[in-house]
Amino acid sequence: MSQSFQIAIDGPVAAGKGTISRLLAQKLGFLYVDTGAMYRATALLALRQEIDLSDEDKVVALLDQSKLEMRNPLPPKEIDGRLTTVILDGEDVSWAIRTQKCGEGASKVAVLAKLRKVLVKKQQEIASSQDVVMEGRDITFRVLPDADIKIFLTASIQARAARRHTQYLIKGVDISIEEVIKEIAERDQRDMQREADPLHVVDDAWSIDTSNLNIEEVVDLIANRVQEIKNQK
Ligand code: DC
Repeated sequence: MSQSFQIAIDGPVAAGKGTISRLLAQKLGFLYVDTGAMYRATALLALRQEIDLSDEDKVVALLDQSKLEMRNPLPPKEIDGRLTTVILDGEDVSWAIRTQKCGEGASKVAVLAKLRKVLVKKQQEIASSQDVVMEGRDITFRVLPDADIKIFLTASIQARAARRHTQYLIKGVDISIEEVIKEIAERDQRDMQREADPLHVVDDAWSIDTSNLNIEEVVDLIANRVQEIKNQK
């Protein structure tokens, strides 16, 4: 088993994984790793180069030629509401990867088995040397199957759509709640039915439904469990 303390969090889109993981990491002094950002950055690269998102070899080659760095946001410049800072070939793309187009592109490149292999290896390297809260869609069973805690965060599609809708409105994106529900349902289908490592709940995962819980309650719940496990170690 790894020397580091690993918290692995999976769950569907807009279940609150990002915000909860970020706050939890901050509370515990762990590194927060948003693995979705890696798929988004890859999609951004491919979209900018106008490469077919289903061309596995070209997408992987493009990523190989690029330098992708991730870190906790640095004050004061990077404290602007982002959860993580993503630098692609020296450019801060933390916000550029958050567009609807990039999210859609990310879910398309995420079906590519060769790309998943490359990104999983990077993620395992990050988690081997430092305490992490790592979130995504395959962390509990592929990236960190021996994690100290495995969590499946979920919420009803209505609750998830309402959260995502609010985020869009804050960003000035004009979209109806019906369109958001449709987008989320499509994303769920792609994430859960893809051939390579579909999102699913592992037997030993702790399932938390966040529909009726506030963020602080969820963070405290997990932080308390971490303390219990640490005491037993
Ligand atoms: O969490 P997110 O919306 O930023 O993720 C973007 C896409 O990347 C999403 O459609 C699923 C995919 N993804 C994945 O397949 N595996 C991960 N570990 C993280 C994200």
